[in-house]
Amino acid sequence: MKIAFVGAGNVGAPLAVRLAEAGHGVVLARTKEGSASVAAALARSGRLRALPIEEAVSGAEVVFLATPFQANEGLLRPLAGALAGKVLVDCTNPVGPGLSHGLRSERSGSEWVQSLAPEARVVKAFSIYGFENFEDPAYPGYPVKPAMLFCGDDGAAKAKVGGLIEACGFEPVDVGGLVQALHLEHMTLLWVRMVRMHGHTPGLVWGALRR
Ligand SMILES: NC(=O)c1ccc[n+]([C@@H]2O[C@H](COP(=O)([O-])OP(=O)(O)OC[C@H]3O[C@@H](n4cnc5c(N)ncnc54)[C@H](OP(=O)(O)O)[C@@H]3O)[C@@H](O)[C@H]2O)c1
Repeated sequence: MKIAFVGAGNVGAPLAVRLAEAGHGVVLARTKEGSASVAAALARSGRLRALPIEEAVSGAEVVFLATPFQANEGLLRPLAGALAGKVLVDCTNPVGPGLSHGLRSERSGSEWVQSLAPEARVVKAFSIYGFENFEDPAYPGYPVKPAMLFCGDDGAAKAKVGGLIEACGFEPVDVGGLVQALHLEHMTLLWVRMVRMHGHTPGLVWGALRR
């Protein structure tokens, strides 16, 4: 699959490396000249390459958005046309003061992202854990993989993203339409507050047990 990453930092880099090493055609978008994060990601895998952002997005079937939330408006508005019909994987989280919801829980970040790229097929995924789990998703000894809860309104887009979630070492758990994104964002805040404020290990994930 042809995949572009907008954002190649803590989140984007490990996912891009993993998907490239799994055989996908992964391109990193250059959002500015001399980006240290893009250079560092390129150094991690010879299978990655970088292109100007418009070119990277236009040539991709699936676009990962892994940027600071506040950068999304400036990045996405000019790309709205190029993103029409593409799967847009929103890994971003709106975070406000004191690790609160950055949009005051009035609207999810992913619905805001959808409004900036109205014809993209937005799927929220890879958002509920810290980057440490994207670097290393292995939990040896457990009979299930870490659950990756994801949501979106387009079933075909979610099927594609589900496959990518599996390729990254997680169990995809489809939790419904994009209206669920707000709840995933609160789940993220719970994890972040547990780990970054209350001393839990970042090596902590949720598992989906069923009967
Ligand atoms: N960190 C986590 O554990 C974690 C986990 C899940 C989700 N998230 C979410 O994922 C997103 C990315 O987080 P991250 O930790 O990967 O961030 P990060 O390490 O700071 O990386 C941000 C990436 O976005 C790029 N970028 C493009 N336009 C930008 C702009 N205007 N301002 C700043 N950076 C810009 C940066 O490029 P340059 O290097 O060229 O500036 C860099 O590649 C955030 O929305 C975050 O809430 C984070």
